[in-house]
Amino acid sequence: MGEIRAGFHHIAIEVSDMDRSIAFYRELLGMRLTERHEAGEVPAIPFALAFLRSGADHHDLVLAHDPRKRYHTRTDDDVREGPAGFHHFAFRCANREAWLAKLRKTRAMGVEIVRGPVVHSAWQPRGEGSWGESESFYVLDPDGHRLEMFCDMATIADDGRYVDASGESIEGPIAEEI
Ligand SMILES: [Fe+2]
Repeated sequence: MGEIRAGFHHIAIEVSDMDRSIAFYRELLGMRLTERHEAGEVPAIPFALAFLRSGADHHDLVLAHDPRKRYHTRTDDDVREGPAGFHHFAFRCANREAWLAKLRKTRAMGVEIVRGPVVHSAWQPRGEGSWGESESFYVLDPDGHRLEMFCDMATIADDGRYVDASGESIEGPIAEEI
């Protein structure tokens, strides 16, 4: 048994077509379906739910579908008016080789890459000025949810220094809170 560390864990997103989204996440991310339930199986839960896992944990991603809802596709107006949603969520690749394999897989599937590949860094020579030191690309899932695939995010040392994936300190940035 590995060490269990406290921290953010899974996300549940709403999808308009459960079968389509399960297929997408299984194929692109290699996730496996742990459980699937129809709406109302548990009286307090009026959503159909699918629990998907990328490792040994029971689930990392939950797909929720509300059969009472008439879904429509996203429009340009959504960025001007509507409830607050989430901006994106991210899938961590174990290392850069795995991330490059995911990039090849994405292209082979014909999934459009809407941003990147990019190095998120204001400090590295290859960086494009944003944050985290990770290497990333972004796609949209069948409902337009923005999904990031990344590797090599910096870690923050006890004194606030940024440490890259090879264990080297990055000269310059210090975390705002230590
Ligand atoms: Fe991100």
